[in-house]
Amino acid sequence: MTAPTLSIDDFKGALGSWASGVTVVTTELDGLVYGITVSSFSSLSVDPVLVLVSLADTNHLPRMIRQSGRFAISILAEGQEDVSKYFATSGRDPAPAFDPAIPTEQWVTGCPLIPGAIAQLDCELHEALPGGDHTIIVGRVVGARFDPDRAPLIYFRRAYRSLAER
Ligand SMILES: Cc1cc2nc3c(=O)[nH]c(=O)nc-3n(C[C@H](O)[C@H](O)[C@H](O)COP(=O)(O)O)c2cc1C
Repeated sequence: MTAPTLSIDDFKGALGSWASGVTVVTTELDGLVYGITVSSFSSLSVDPVLVLVSLADTNHLPRMIRQSGRFAISILAEGQEDVSKYFATSGRDPAPAFDPAIPTEQWVTGCPLIPGAIAQLDCELHEALPGGDHTIIVGRVVGARFDPDRAPLIYFRRAYRSLAER
């Protein structure tokens, strides 16, 4: 049987069928902070404690994380679409501070974390691996916190959604 020819639209449509949470990944380098919206987050290992994200090489972020050696992941809560949209906006250069409308906090590594997120992970860079036109950033978790009572922001088929308890 002949395999169907793969179209990029089908590839993207298939990937868009994967419902995910939404995170903001940030780093700090020489007083500059930078962050982007990322859904390619995954747990990886318990011993050692590792997580991963995959970041497009067209972004500043993979290069900055390689240099800073640290990053933070904030898992967004339901209602934080504005935060997701802000950090998914193209063409922002690294800036000395985020939009003041989006306050941040910091702990172990000094990377900015998004308040109001349902979970936050502070990471040291464990490994940066090539992944096509992306870089797979593996982080060793040095701090973690979560709020068990709040719901996550969901992204599915290019739209923000909420969990529906059935
Ligand atoms: C819901 C959502 C998930 C995203 N996930 C990723 C991701 O996993 N990896 C990535 O590199 N970009 C991802 N992006 C796109 C980046 O957020 C976007 O390209 C980046 O903010 C653009 O910034 P820049 O052009 O200044 O580099 C995602 C965007 C959205 C809206």
